[in-house]
Formats: sequence, C-alpha cells, structure tokens
Amino acid sequence: DDLIGQGQVAGKRVFVRADLNVPLAGQTITDDGRIRAAVPTITRLAEAGARVIVASHLGRPKGEPDPQFSLAPVAARLGELLSRDGISTAFAADTVGDSARSTVAGLADGQVALLENLRFNAGETAKDDAERGAFADELAALADIYVGDGFGAVHRKHASVYDLPARLPHAAGGLIATEVGVLKKLTEDVTRPYAVVLGGSKVSDKLGVIDHLLEKADRILVGGGMVFTFLKAQGHEVGKSLLQEDQLPVVREYLERAEAKGVEFVLPVDVVGATEFPDLKTQAPSSPVTAAVDAIPADVIGLDIGPESRKLFAAKLADAATVFWNGPMGVFEHPDYADGTRAVAQALIDSPAFTVVGGGDSAAAVRILGFDENAFGHISTGGGASLEYLEGKTLPGLAALEG
Ligand code: 3PG
Repeated sequence: DDLIGQGQVAGKRVFVRADLNVPLAGQTITDDGRIRAAVPTITRLAEAGARVIVASHLGRPKGEPDPQFSLAPVAARLGELLSRDGISTAFAADTVGDSARSTVAGLADGQVALLENLRFNAGETAKDDAERGAFADELAALADIYVGDGFGAVHRKHASVYDLPARLPHAAGGLIATEVGVLKKLTEDVTRPYAVVLGGSKVSDKLGVIDHLLEKADRILVGGGMVFTFLKAQGHEVGKSLLQEDQLPVVREYLERAEAKGVEFVLPVDVVGATEFPDLKTQAPSSPVTAAVDAIPADVIGLDIGPESRKLFAAKLADAATVFWNGPMGVFEHPDYADGTRAVAQALIDSPAFTVVGGGDSAAAVRILGFDENAFGHISTGGGASLEYLEGKTLPGLAALEG
C-alpha cells in the first residue's frame, strides 16, 4: 500500500513472492484457496501500473525441473481469476532462464507473468548461503521491487523468501499484513476462554506449538493421527493406529504439565477405524468400525474421532471466546472418515467465538467438505508458517521484510 500510495510501482517490474502451493490430484487443483488469496495484491499492483512477476514453489521437487510439480495448472487458474479483473497473465517455462527473461521483458504495464516452480532450482532451498545467494541474484536481475506475500512460506529460509528481499527495495503485501494481524490476536491479547483444536498425522510436528500453548490456551482438543500417541501415553492400546513411540515421554510430560497449570486436554472418548487404510483414489466404500478408546481392537487403524467424541468436542468449543484450529481430525479425504473434521468445522461455525482455521490441510478440508469459508473468522493460508508464528519463532520471511 505504501509503495502504491507513493506511486513507486508504475512501470516497474515488481516481483511478488506468493504461496501458490495448492493441493493437486494429477493436474487438477483440489483447493484453490491459496491462489484466490494471492489475487488481491497482484491485482492492486497491476492496476497501479506495475509489471507483476509472480513466483511460488509447488510441492517438494528435488532442485530440478519435474513435470509433476509444474505450476502450469496454477497458471491456468490464476490467469482465469485475473482475467475477471481484465488482467492478462503469461506463464514462463522456467524461473530464471530464457523463457523467464523474455516473458518479463515482454510485459506491458499492468500485465502479469507467473514463473515456473522456484524449487526447480537447487539454489532456492539450499542450506549453503552462497548457493542461495547466487540464485537470489538471478531472481533479483528480473525485477526492480520485491513484495513478500507468500505467508504460507515465511517460515522457510529460502532464496526467494529470505535472500531476495535483501537485494531489492521491498515491502510486505496485503495478505501477509492480514495474516500477521490475525495471528497477533492469538498471541498478544487473546480473549478467553481460548480453545485450540489440533489434528494432523504427526505429533512430532506439533510439539513446539503445544509447548507454547500450555502457557496460553485454556483448553487443547486433540484428534487426527497424532492423538494415538496421546491415547497410548494415557495407557490405552491403539491397535494398528499411527503411533510415535519415541514421542511418548514428551507427550506424558505435556499431559502432566497441563494438569499442573490447569490447562484442559480434551482427548477423544471413541474412534472410528478400519482394518485396512481406505482407498483415497477410488473412494471405494470401506468397513468402518467404532470403538471406545479403551477397547480399540488390535487389528484396527484409527482413522477419525468417533460420534461421542464429536459431541464432546462440540461442547468444549461452544463456550470458547477464541478458537484456533490446525489439522484435520481424521482421514477426511475419504467420506467414511470425514465426520470428525466436519463436526469440528460445524462447531466453529456455530460458536460465537473468534475462530481461526490455520493449516494448509484444515483450510483445504473445510472447503473440500463444502463449508462456506466466510462462516469462519479467518482461514489462514499458512500451515507450518502459522504454527511457527504462534510458537513465537522468528520467521525468516517476515524478518527479511522488516530489514
Ligand atoms: C506449506 O504448504 O505449508 C507451504 O507452502 C510450505 O511448503 P513446504 O512445507 O514444502 O516448505
């Protein structure tokens, strides 16, 4: 906004680092939330007369071109969305090569070019500062101004996120400003009771945030694959469910610390599972069974929270004033195991609380399950980024924009 207000972008090549890392099934985008979230900043810059260069990563290719991670489907969707604002979008077949250079050179004021996947270049994610710096130099040669707006990637110390802003006049885009504004409300002056719902597969990904939340939250509800490590820590047998044995001591310590601090851990009382993992591709009906957590059969894989747990979770969310939710409650990609995630989404909608859905997966889940995204206080585009923000970590991509 500052740059636009000062008339600094007209006629300039403005590099927008977005996070267009959307879920794909083959070439089909299953949730375009991140693309839609990137559009307002791009449109504002184009309408102010900038020549906009948009760049993003997609998936985790190994530092060289790999067609299954091409941004081509994203280019098509972005082009469609921007054309509604009368903006034309070109797609470069590489990131810093001939195609990128000629595409950028061909931009008129108010036009947009999307570059191919940043991670097709080893320098993007390199640990070595010099290697990242060399790639950042090549990116910098394409542009005059840098706008950081890929909130979902600000926790990555990557060339386009961390090294490039140091090489160009830079500013934060509107999406980053909004995301940081909302997450601040969860870290600084949170309105209580503050309930947090955590899901997803691995408890090891959530340890930092749980550690932090034990100081902040009033209630922590746990579901998803990670809950089986909690249930095991409480002495339950979990059958063939996902279990991180090595995390049992730390989970036990968290449960004890929560009790000492008066933070309530809410765990499921029943689960839905099956003896085989469901086929997500064919969506073929499976044979779900429901079991109380103290009677999970030895051959069952837990795949969702059960009906009594859904009621319990809804009740624990009903009187919260602030809710943060990260991670699905089960394998929501299969209809037999989507009810837990659906119930939490509905509980957030029904609650008068300020509700934030954080996490690529949970954000995608609410849209894929057909909920109206406007019914939530805020749906973050950040997965790991929003968790690390809540942990109070310094995020390389935000630090670089402040410098
Ligand atoms: C995400 O999906 O959380 C971001 O796009 C970052 O992706 P990454 O975990 O592959 O770095």
